[in-house]
Amino acid sequence: MLIKNIGILAGIVPEGVLRKEGASQGIVDCLENAWLLIEDGRIADFGPMSTCPSDIPSEVDARGGMILPGFCDSHTHIVYAGSRDGEFLDKINGLSYEEIAARGGGILNSSDLLGTTSEDSLFEQSMARVKEMMAKGTVAMEIKSGYGLNPKGEMKMLRVIDRIRKTVPATVKSTFLGAHAIGRGYSHEDYVQAVIDMIPEAAKLADFVDVFCDEGFFTVEDTDRILSAAKGLLRPKIHANELAVSGGVQVGVKHGALSVDHLERTTDAEIEALRGSETMPTMLPGSSFFLGIPYGRAKDYINAGLGVALASDYNPGSSPSGDMRFVMALGCIRMRLTPAQAFNAVTLNSAYAMGVSHELGSITRGKKASLILTQPGWTLTKLPYLHHTPFISKVFIEGKEI
Ligand code: NIG
Ligand code: FE
Repeated sequence: MLIKNIGILAGIVPEGVLRKEGASQGIVDCLENAWLLIEDGRIADFGPMSTCPSDIPSEVDARGGMILPGFCDSHTHIVYAGSRDGEFLDKINGLSYEEIAARGGGILNSSDLLGTTSEDSLFEQSMARVKEMMAKGTVAMEIKSGYGLNPKGEMKMLRVIDRIRKTVPATVKSTFLGAHAIGRGYSHEDYVQAVIDMIPEAAKLADFVDVFCDEGFFTVEDTDRILSAAKGLLRPKIHANELAVSGGVQVGVKHGALSVDHLERTTDAEIEALRGSETMPTMLPGSSFFLGIPYGRAKDYINAGLGVALASDYNPGSSPSGDMRFVMALGCIRMRLTPAQAFNAVTLNSAYAMGVSHELGSITRGKKASLILTQPGWTLTKLPYLHHTPFISKVFIEGKEI
């Protein structure tokens, strides 16, 4: 299939570039007035309209719309049961995330709801969110467990994630987040051991392991034990520094984490720890927005030569939205990223943070043709600027319109 009359083909990256760091995060290579050829679900070729092939039977006229790589969302909790809108009212009335959790709300509330929800219903409820995300341009997503909080519940979540993976055209990565909160009926010590014991079974379905390494949840020592047990089975992606400067970044880097996520509260020591590592700092401005906590210091990270990814953290407690264009807008409006820096953060760098940037996240020959075609007249800057104006004309996942 040929897409012709593309106003701006945005996000062209040479083969082999797996992430954008430092100054390169601010560069988005574009081709104006372009065509793009899709073969077998992959980007076969592209070029200026002056060289447009004429003998392709199936054609889409972009009518001047922009083509960009679909959004990659490297951090979500979209498999959950029921709703936590009651806590939304508590929050409006002034309770903090920690206070809501301490009253039996929060993650434990979702865990109770999950326990009484059938696997089929959990799948259906979660699929509605996946479809919503794809319609908004997300073509790859990571999904975490972490509302089971016992062996039965965690495996139920991982099976649902696996079923989603097999059902939807989007690329799905699965993360075992047994260490999300202490499961009901366990002591802290017993639960950490229970998580360690779950790892071999979880590793049959999951790609990654995560620990909520933060004040009031899991310590650096707990995290170190869990990641040591998962070594060789599951690569880490860590929740760190959302509620306090937790040491989670350092322990994540020590264990070769693919990403360390949240980072709303960081000092220069975290930036230093990440320098020269394979770990992608990932910030979740949707949860800063919803919880009213600080935004990550993305600009300082980039100025220090690091790359930054942005993801939605879509979950019922701290970020009830999977809209990656809104994430991009928050990156620009609240974190002062340029549209180009934010664009790379929600495409190539977020793909890197879930281990898929060799085949998604940019316009590169051979990569999956998972793309957004905008309506005519859109530019890179307008995406975050006109942040709630409908912009999508079509979403293609592996070459097929969804
Ligand atoms: O990333 N911080 C820990 N976990 C989620 C929130 C989960 C929930 O409240 O249900 C987060 O913000
Ligand atoms: Fe999270």
